[in-house]
Amino acid sequence: MNQEQTLPISNQLPLVTSQPILKKAILYKLDSYISGCGKLELPCLPGMLDYYTNVLEKLFSHLGRPMSTKRQQQLRQMLERKLAEGYNVSANAMLVIQYELVRPPKKGMACQITIRTPSLGEHYDSWVDNRTPPLFGSHPDAKVLATVAEFGGNSTKILDIGGGTGRNALPLARMGHYVDVLELTRAFIEQLQKAIATENLSINVIKGDILDPLTRLQPNFYQLAIATEVISHFRNVEDLRLFLAKMSDVICSGGLLLFNIFLTANEYVPDELARDMAQLCWSSLFTSEELTIAMEGLPLVSVSNDLVIEYERQYLPETAWPPTSWFESWATGRDVFPLANGQPPLEFRWILCRRV
Ligand SMILES: C[S@@+](CC[C@H](N)C(=O)[O-])C[C@H]1O[C@@H](n2cnc3c(N)ncnc32)[C@H](O)[C@@H]1O
Repeated sequence: MNQEQTLPISNQLPLVTSQPILKKAILYKLDSYISGCGKLELPCLPGMLDYYTNVLEKLFSHLGRPMSTKRQQQLRQMLERKLAEGYNVSANAMLVIQYELVRPPKKGMACQITIRTPSLGEHYDSWVDNRTPPLFGSHPDAKVLATVAEFGGNSTKILDIGGGTGRNALPLARMGHYVDVLELTRAFIEQLQKAIATENLSINVIKGDILDPLTRLQPNFYQLAIATEVISHFRNVEDLRLFLAKMSDVICSGGLLLFNIFLTANEYVPDELARDMAQLCWSSLFTSEELTIAMEGLPLVSVSNDLVIEYERQYLPETAWPPTSWFESWATGRDVFPLANGQPPLEFRWILCRRV
């Protein structure tokens, strides 16, 4: 029995026996017994506003709750605001849409839109619980080893930015080099510190974000700074410039800076959606011109520029290739553009610079 739906009864009304009309009445009543709710999580890509609005319109329609034009406009405005809010906080922000069928006689869709913005460190923390190590490969980068070898001897002062679980730092320290690691992910730092303590290695771990203006390192100190698979998390040319400026500060004259970066190929100029998607897939894209602009006026000169995938495949031990199950797809840009029969227009490149 449902109070709201009890219709006024009058003896004056005609008797209805038409099957279609009775069925319609039953379906109307049935709606009050149907309940449902759901949740959608969508990446905060502002360029997808129309697409997302359309997805929701279709979804609500399919659930028997089509939206009025006014409601559609309100929803679109709300999505626009929340997408921008999430995007500004993080490349990995998610739009969370919770919806619930409203029962007759009101009959509609209650909808709540929020954003979820886990930090990069929180994302990586979960890797420790959910993935099987080694998380980034079992062997140090061949290019890192070749670069360190240029200094001769075994007591190079090395800075490893975003050193992760120590794929490069641990073997370098075992060789006798002095290594500082700057890392922002708590769980990686814990793992690294355990390994350092077990082997009694000379590695100093600093917790911090290289892009944080408050993160200060010893100026004019290191002979070599490396950042492997880290720039792919940067969000724009300003981040890249800040990183390069900080490295110019901490590397001593004649020292080297080695990093890898996704650069566009064949003069492909990515649009906003491609750039945002690349950020989401931890493959942030830059053009060669942007790299040149970011380096402008800094005391850095380019020494070499190699395709990572070719270099590492050639020089890593056969048993260490590929470094991880995801590496080849990621480093060839297929995480961003999963093309079946073609090559994505981006290249993951080793850039080696000298501090002059
Ligand atoms: C893909 S992992 C690579 C780890 C390690 N460099 C390697 O090649 O095995 C990227 C690492 O960079 C760290 N990272 C990303 N952005 C950073 C930043 N702005 N400052 C410090 N560390 C950062 C992450 O926490 C993560 O450990």
